[in-house]
Amino acid sequence: MTCFPFLFGKRAKSPTGSVGNDEELLGMHNVRLYTYKELKVATEDFSLANKIGEGGFGSVYKGRLRNGKLAAIKVLSAQSRQGLKEFLAETKVISVIEHENLVQLYGCCVENNHRILVYNYLENNSLAQTLLGRGSSSLQFDWQSRSRICIGIARGLAFLHEDVQPYIIHRDIKASNILLDRDLTPKISDFGLARLVPANMSHISTGVAGTIGYLAPEYAIRGQVTRKSDIYSFGVLLVEIVSGRCNKNTKLPIGEQYLLETAWNLYERGELVLLVDMSLNGDFDAEEACKYIKIGLLCTQDSPKLRPSMSTVVKMLMGEMSVEDRKITKPGLLSDLMDPRGKIPEKNKGSDGLFLGNSTTSSEPSTVTTATFTAQYDTNNLSSAL
Ligand SMILES: Nc1ncnc2c1ncn2[C@@H]1O[C@H](COP(=O)(O)OP(=O)(O)OP(=O)(O)O)[C@@H](O)[C@H]1O
Ligand SMILES: [Mg+2]
Repeated sequence: MTCFPFLFGKRAKSPTGSVGNDEELLGMHNVRLYTYKELKVATEDFSLANKIGEGGFGSVYKGRLRNGKLAAIKVLSAQSRQGLKEFLAETKVISVIEHENLVQLYGCCVENNHRILVYNYLENNSLAQTLLGRGSSSLQFDWQSRSRICIGIARGLAFLHEDVQPYIIHRDIKASNILLDRDLTPKISDFGLARLVPANMSHISTGVAGTIGYLAPEYAIRGQVTRKSDIYSFGVLLVEIVSGRCNKNTKLPIGEQYLLETAWNLYERGELVLLVDMSLNGDFDAEEACKYIKIGLLCTQDSPKLRPSMSTVVKMLMGEMSVEDRKITKPGLLSDLMDPRGKIPEKNKGSDGLFLGNSTTSSEPSTVTTATFTAQYDTNNLSSAL
């Protein structure tokens, strides 16, 4: 698989309205630049009726572009706006990345203070709204489609981690960032977004329910961002897809609220099959489903070194590599770092975690190394956020 730069020879209007005389726009020939007016028309004046969602960085609208294509138009909020030069440079990097399992960035609008991203529109919403049921959905996910979805996401992430040069760490793999197209092909969205917002803003919207449950402990506590922290998040997502359950459910009895903890307990008892989504009515390949959960446990091992690379995960999911000869130990759980009152004791706090300040990288080099986090939470209310 390769990256295919898509070239647009069009001369774009500059942010100031004049055509092509801004220094920053020179060299932007392979990113489609949209005028604000064009996106206003596409979204019928950013009407509420066309608003399809709101995330940590702004609102998303559905729109029809001049070429007739549907687009998801993400209007970054004022705090998410970055300097023009950096924004354009990063947009350029992201827009040349093409893969069947990645949402395609068509281009952007940078007129005046606007920072707007224009993506390929996906018909079937996100896994959070469909499979995990945070919205009403009529979609049915049988075992074959779940298996295809897991493999597709793994391939998309393996591509970002191992084929793109320099590689990209997603940082926010979660069910709401997995969109589905007409035939339920999964597409990872928001990759590279960390590069498009100011360094003092977290890519992780800690206010979004459930988001923190995807974070590798070393990322949440010490801010260590590596490909292995993405792999941890993928592992959580994998178990969610097989079980049809969110990573945390406070309606369940204590001890069963955290999906990974439940998966580990069932694994130890040799009863993993009990975790598979009951809505499948027993119509699934039990051996394969249990293997997927085991891969989820491997991806979420406490020590990042024990987590397999994404290309290995793809092979395991596809049955090209065995899982059975791998030793699985207890997964890393943020909840284990808390005391009985749900607080993080001083000895477990790092100095650079998501809830404390700057992020750092571990021994594995990363492409995005210097993002800092505006702590919406400190470690003392981490438990309520989990
Ligand atoms: N390309 C797209 N096609 C169709 N719908 C989309 C697309 N991109 C985003 N959406 C919709 O907009 C919603 C909001 O997306 P957004 O990325 O802003 O927030 P989020 O993923 O829920 O949270 P976060 O800000 O933490 O990523 C998504 O849940 C999805 O329903
Ligand atoms: Mg998103």
